[in-house]
Amino acid sequence: MITTSHDRLLIIDFGSQVTQLIARRLRELNVYCEIHPFQKVTDGFLADFAPKAVILSGGPASVLDAGSPRVPERVFELGVPVLGICYGQQVMMQQLGGRVERGHGTAEFGRAYVSPTEARIDLLNGWFLEGREQVWMSHGDHVAEIAPGFAVYGTSPNAPFAITADLERRFYAVQFHPEVHHTPNGRTLYENFVRDAGFTGDWTMGAYREEAIRKIREQVGNAKVICGLSGGVDSSVAAVLIHEAIGDQLTCVFVDHGLLRQDEAEEVVTMFRDHYNMPLIHADERALFLGELEGVSDPETKRKTIGRLFIDVFQKHSEAVGGAKFLAQGTLYPDVIESVSFSGGPSVTIKSHHNVGGLPEKMGLKLVEPLRELFKDEVRALGHELGLPASFIGRHPFPGPGLAIRCPGEITAEKLDILRKADAVYIDQIRRHGLYDEIWQAFVAILPVRTVGVMGDGRTYDFACALRAVTSVDGMTADYYPFSHEFLGETATRIINEVKGINRVTYDITSKPPGTIEWE
Ligand code: XMP
Repeated sequence: MITTSHDRLLIIDFGSQVTQLIARRLRELNVYCEIHPFQKVTDGFLADFAPKAVILSGGPASVLDAGSPRVPERVFELGVPVLGICYGQQVMMQQLGGRVERGHGTAEFGRAYVSPTEARIDLLNGWFLEGREQVWMSHGDHVAEIAPGFAVYGTSPNAPFAITADLERRFYAVQFHPEVHHTPNGRTLYENFVRDAGFTGDWTMGAYREEAIRKIREQVGNAKVICGLSGGVDSSVAAVLIHEAIGDQLTCVFVDHGLLRQDEAEEVVTMFRDHYNMPLIHADERALFLGELEGVSDPETKRKTIGRLFIDVFQKHSEAVGGAKFLAQGTLYPDVIESVSFSGGPSVTIKSHHNVGGLPEKMGLKLVEPLRELFKDEVRALGHELGLPASFIGRHPFPGPGLAIRCPGEITAEKLDILRKADAVYIDQIRRHGLYDEIWQAFVAILPVRTVGVMGDGRTYDFACALRAVTSVDGMTADYYPFSHEFLGETATRIINEVKGINRVTYDITSKPPGTIEWE
């Protein structure tokens, strides 16, 4: 379904790990684009989408293998510029009359240098300032013969056809990945490509906000909308945007399950009810959740219990809204992109994530998802545009099941209390040292083990805790944050001195994979 009136660029996905980065680079250039798997790009889809340009992504397959993906022929007949990247380049050459060969010693993985040929093209304006450009290659096969109409504009030692183009048809093909960080000047290439295709850069947050408001009004009419507010960035931005569109037709439901951080419930309620004047139901369900979680220590049972109760509570309180027809959710673009799977096998469930999944069917509600086209940093930019405080927009993500999954083993009121206090000290330390914005997420987990310590002249027998801090782009992979020993030592001392109940502090240095960010 096409939902924007902006100029559109279509990225056809052949399954590369870095396809999303192409979209990021284009969005940075204020170009609206969508990623669609190659199997979905039918003639009808193309007519509907009406792209102003097409990019063919990389991918893991070999064009020489039977049944490997192909570009829908219609793409080459649209009369719009096409850029093929890596697999996209090879499949384009193969289909347009060139030839691809297996690697045999010419595979290239990693840094390479491309040099220009004598002839110059606009695509490369601003490139080759130093006579050659660093690029990132990752290919086994290579193009052995370019297709009729194409000429060579850049070569590397192992890729004689690193950059080729058919200027008449405005078809471009590059062997390397201009979207990755290791092709430092790659943005220039995308910029030249989209300007040549006629994109004016009309995808701005201001324009997005106006269009989103218009669409929400169209979709909702006079009906009532409810929104589960978690206090996280996504649901907060969605709520403020929808409130701007339809005012008090929106009611937010904030469920306090007793697993929130220190002062969190007050902060969220004050901000939305008092500052934004939004109708807000503050459902204090601490006793219910903590009662049902008593004695539960298995992580999946915890998650499922919280998910089930959340739906019940949300349903109970939203009945007070009376006749809501829509449920608002802060779904983001990365949640919507369909991943390309060649095997078609089901993926393993590592953790049962819970948000308000299952509600729309159960309650017969339709969804309003005004952030479906945005990446996380775009949601933050929209929040900024909507006037949400910077401190709120930059908050670290917080999981739906809250502190329950940071408390391995049985959850007790005592442990939660200790955990909240330790977490507050840790976050305060991070802020004091000016590190908060460098870190994707930081928190304390309280361990289900007591250890012996000595404080003053006395013996202590208290809980141990683990500090976690990671850097990440999207939460899918993560690296532990390299705090200085000085910072860690100071933080441990503060936690042990200020939080009664903890006498030992450890730092979790596991990356994801093999670990996960949360402890459960
Ligand atoms: P993991 O632990 O899977 O976490 O590496 C990745 C990111 O997802 C967050 N997370 C959740 N978010 N509901 C959420 O809304 C959940 O059930 C949930 N579980 C984990 C986690 O905090 C991290 O940012």
